[in-house]
Amino acid sequence: MKALLVLGPMVRHVDGDSAAVWVETASAGVVTVRLPGRDGEQVWRAPTFGVHGHHYALVEVTGLHPGERSTYQVLLDDQVVWPQPADPFPAPHLATSPPGGPVRLAFGSCRTSVPHDLVHETSHGVDALRTYALSLRAGEPGPLGVEPDLLLLLGDQVYADSTSAAMREFIASRRSLQEEPGAELADYEEYAHLYQLAWTEPPLRWLFSWLPSLMIFDDHDIRDDWNTSLAWREEMEQTSWWHGRVVAGLGSYWVYQHLGNLSVSARAGDPLWHELQRRQAEHPGREVDLTDAVDAFAERADRDPLSYRWSYTHPLGGSSHLVVVDSRAARNLDPEHRAMLDEAEMSWLDEQLTGDVEHLVIGTSLPYLLPRGIHHLEAWDEAVVAGAWGPRWRRPGEWLRQELDLEHWAAFHASFERVAAMVTEVADGRRGTAPASVVFLSGDVHHSYITEVVRTGGSRILQLVCSPVRNPMPVVMRAAFALVAHGIARPLGAALARSARVPDPPLRWRDVAGPWFDNNIAVLDIEGQDLRTVWLGGRRVLGIDDEPQLVLVADIELDVPPVGSSTHPARARVHPDDRSRVRPRAARALGVAALSLAAYAWWRRSR
Ligand SMILES: [Fe+2]
Repeated sequence: MKALLVLGPMVRHVDGDSAAVWVETASAGVVTVRLPGRDGEQVWRAPTFGVHGHHYALVEVTGLHPGERSTYQVLLDDQVVWPQPADPFPAPHLATSPPGGPVRLAFGSCRTSVPHDLVHETSHGVDALRTYALSLRAGEPGPLGVEPDLLLLLGDQVYADSTSAAMREFIASRRSLQEEPGAELADYEEYAHLYQLAWTEPPLRWLFSWLPSLMIFDDHDIRDDWNTSLAWREEMEQTSWWHGRVVAGLGSYWVYQHLGNLSVSARAGDPLWHELQRRQAEHPGREVDLTDAVDAFAERADRDPLSYRWSYTHPLGGSSHLVVVDSRAARNLDPEHRAMLDEAEMSWLDEQLTGDVEHLVIGTSLPYLLPRGIHHLEAWDEAVVAGAWGPRWRRPGEWLRQELDLEHWAAFHASFERVAAMVTEVADGRRGTAPASVVFLSGDVHHSYITEVVRTGGSRILQLVCSPVRNPMPVVMRAAFALVAHGIARPLGAALARSARVPDPPLRWRDVAGPWFDNNIAVLDIEGQDLRTVWLGGRRVLGIDDEPQLVLVADIELDVPPVGSSTHPARARVHPDDRSRVRPRAARALGVAALSLAAYAWWRRSR
């Protein structure tokens, strides 16, 4: 029998009294979420809406109580479609946020969806998120001893530009792979299939059916280097396929990822959701086709970033606050006014970054604080493209920017400085009472690390980067990268930045822990003022394809002293002494060996 539910159910935004349940169904109908209530069953309903022939519903389950937890069922036209009768996984549950309890926030980024056999686990490593799901299902939540409360996916949830064999097979069934854009995605139908490949494997589907999730895109959800510069945009716009791609990418992102990020009130203010409600009120009892509105909305969002805001906020536990920033679509690429966030977005961020909270957590797909050497290189490159070394260097600078992905906050240095001023004011207690910490959460860079801003008082400013969930940097590149990023790039980058008259960054920061290069999922545990974080990975069990073992990569307690107490650098107690980390000294030795070998090979060849 054909499955009636194509994707989901996915529990998305959850707060103290509501939960959003998202599904893709195989046909039009009315979707019901059913909970056993104190006085008999309670039901919430939503009709499906159509986009490009696919059917979706987001059911707003409201009127719940904080800390409530109950199993639920999903029905399509009064037929139970989830959980399925032979489902080996436990029944899904809905749990509202507890009134002020601890928060365990799992986070990570960069996940390719390829098979879990020996070949692919050799090339792509063990999927950390899937391993975590299997471990949670077995009742083994890892060193924290409890399940996470929330999952934050920080970008590259799907790869539209680098496709798996299964995705290429689907594309080839529709069009020739010789036609542009070849094995990359071309339209909404292909995006719908990509999401299906990414999110239907059983352990992940089970995880999404009870663990609330929030998401933000990064480049690969659309294309590598998305919006890195005006030159990049112009190059894309000359192709025959870019327009279709970005419209399909943003439209499907709204449907599959963004809609579920919003609270009931934020969703009510969303123009596309509002349009859906309007059409549904006009045609009660019928599925509304939203295709034209989704396409027009996506086209406008791409053409005019000011027309829509993808960033959002979310309450965390007692009184902590999560701000998730779009660091891709809201850019101003005009070389004269280049900015990571356009004026409207930056003003919005300015309003969100305030004190009077326990911890201020900022999610940005791109790390705000890079290894110092790379920061200098990116800032230097931006200045060179702007003409700091004269017109002849502009093109090589642009080439370098695109080749080396010099596109993080440091490559938008004016924006970096503005955010530095904002978070410093928060941490100094000049925007309300200073929180215990300001924490950036990021991904994208295919290695994980923790850094801290060097300060002399006020709140700590930390950054935790967790990448990849499943898309590791090749082993041979790790040592060289560690050498460059944490070694030679620092003096070299600083000298280059000075030569291009780039002002020193207004913050200084230092490594606290890492780098780790294997696939990981991190969990941040906020309990009052205390912060603890664990990095978890997966290890293949010999001879078994389907049961990876959860391994602890690092268990880190971050000392967060009372606000205002004098400063000593944050100490991270790292347990265990992790082997996946490439240590700087070992990295330097390996890097020097690799460079010597390369020089020797070049010398032999030139003879
Ligand atoms: Fe990325």
